Amino acid sequence: MSEHRPVGVFDSGVGGLSVVREMRRRMPRLDIVYVSDARHLPYGEKSEEFIRERSFAIADFLLGEGARALVIACNTATAAAARALREAFTLPIVGIEPAVKPAAQATRSGIVGILATASTLQSSRYAELLRRFGQFTRVIGQPASGLVECVEAGELDGPRTRELLARHLGPLLEAGADTIVLGCTHYPFLLPAIRAIVGPAVRIIDPGDAVARRVEEVLGSDTGGGATLRCFSSGDPAAQQALMSRLLGETVAVLPLPERGRGHRREAAPG
Ligand code: DGL
Repeated sequence: MSEHRPVGVFDSGVGGLSVVREMRRRMPRLDIVYVSDARHLPYGEKSEEFIRERSFAIADFLLGEGARALVIACNTATAAAARALREAFTLPIVGIEPAVKPAAQATRSGIVGILATASTLQSSRYAELLRRFGQFTRVIGQPASGLVECVEAGELDGPRTRELLARHLGPLLEAGADTIVLGCTHYPFLLPAIRAIVGPAVRIIDPGDAVARRVEEVLGSDTGGGATLRCFSSGDPAAQQALMSRLLGETVAVLPLPERGRGHRREAAPG
């Protein structure tokens, strides 16, 4: 019975669709409800408190839509809100975080670059990742401001995007990084432009598939459904619909995200 209930996925914008893409590759029958909080992005330049507030409102909404599991398809929101969400809700919650461990295992030069939002790189969760997995590796965090906006504007390979990428990737390459982690779910949509700058020898790690694998584990054998994808956005639905359809390579309908959640948490959000 429960296989007909969807999995709820959210991000500050369309970036989380890079995770949805991987989830559907592994679990093609899964029903998914996706929320893009485009009106409030970029999360990476907001306070943790604000991001937590938005995460709770969206989680409430997704529970109201019947979600049986929640995927925080946003590194920034995972760092700011995953713990509080897990304390407040009983359903399984899967988050995403910069793949420091796989990068440290993969590097040959001993230098890895983490491309992420400022908020992710300043978070205590990221500090903990460095402490656990970064002892024998030089891990350089590069706050990549502006890239989320490029993706949201549909500029996946334009001059502004290439210029910003060159500015953010340059210091990592100059420092000798041979492995670069895409620490924000928007960045996989920039992969061709990133590859053009870093060249073929640099390893690029996108943790999207690892998250999809974790979702599959959490759902167990229960990954059936009607293969539906319902999308909601707090941004301009027409613009978001055009962009999401382009990113996924199929036509998706996008409905406006209702303003208020419905109160499905078991206790109030901590400060
Ligand atoms: N996709 C979000 C992430 O993974 C971007 C956050 C933002 O809006 O700055 O971090």
